[in-house]
Amino acid sequence: MSATAATKEVQRLTVADIGRMYADGERIPMLTAYDFPTARLLDDAGIPLVLVGDSVGEVVLGYESTVRVSMTEMLHHTRAVVRGTQRALVIGDMPFLSYATTDEALTNAGRFLRDAGAQAVKVEGGVRSARIIESLVRAGIPVQGHIGWTPQAKYAMGGKVRVQGKTVDRARSMLADALAVQESGAFSIVLELVPDQLAAAITERLRIPTIGIGAGPHCSGQVQVVTDLLGLGSFIPRHARPYAHLRETILEAARAYAADVASGSFPSKAESSTMDERVLDEVLGRSAVDRADDVLGREQGVAGVPLDRDL
Ligand code: KIV
Repeated sequence: MSATAATKEVQRLTVADIGRMYADGERIPMLTAYDFPTARLLDDAGIPLVLVGDSVGEVVLGYESTVRVSMTEMLHHTRAVVRGTQRALVIGDMPFLSYATTDEALTNAGRFLRDAGAQAVKVEGGVRSARIIESLVRAGIPVQGHIGWTPQAKYAMGGKVRVQGKTVDRARSMLADALAVQESGAFSIVLELVPDQLAAAITERLRIPTIGIGAGPHCSGQVQVVTDLLGLGSFIPRHARPYAHLRETILEAARAYAADVASGSFPSKAESSTMDERVLDEVLGRSAVDRADDVLGREQGVAGVPLDRDL
């Protein structure tokens, strides 16, 4: 391998690359990440789209809803995810009320890209967010839309998480939402909790990739909350598939560790280090002349640490 090949930098994916995957008919996997080590693993696994979702509020920060998440918290987590990735396109999720007006949207989306290093932002809402999306796209900020169940509008949508678009009116308005997001210039759109057939119909009619979560198998890609994927939470939604069971793994590890500490079997010799005993003797005044119980020293009147000794 030549020196140039060995030092070749990994290129970060762009929205054009995602567009190419879509055009080639490749199904696009997207995952959320909120911290450096997880982001690094997802990047190593080749996940092309990593979303720093405001779901961080519920699954990492312990809030009861994403409505509580602030820009400061989102930027903090986005910076960590950007540092952990080299190749993935990182999307920062615009939190509740951070894009209520065009000016606020531009300022806050700018912070995601300029301060935190994300390459795109995600905005909830269809027709109602179209003008905002358009302004961001015009300013050169790639935007991912998000329709169907939109958690930030939870209180306006009746509070209960449920599949959207099951009636004629609601299905029509979801189609209108999808088209509005596309026409505003978004590069892709998340469909959350949408019936399979409606998600398929939307996917068929759009020229941008649909990324489904609880929206069936016919979307152009899928997104999952990483803690669901890893089986970390105590509740796994019906639409999620845990590919690992880290909750049990972590519980077992923590219990085994506590038991080993209690029994004294951790740390063992292999997990500890030693030093030259003579150095410690010197430090603790344990040389023959320093020892309080040194018979010879006592007889000679020099037992114990001399008062004028430089310790
Ligand atoms: O915040 C989030 O994790 C999301 C995904 C569910 C799409 O918005």
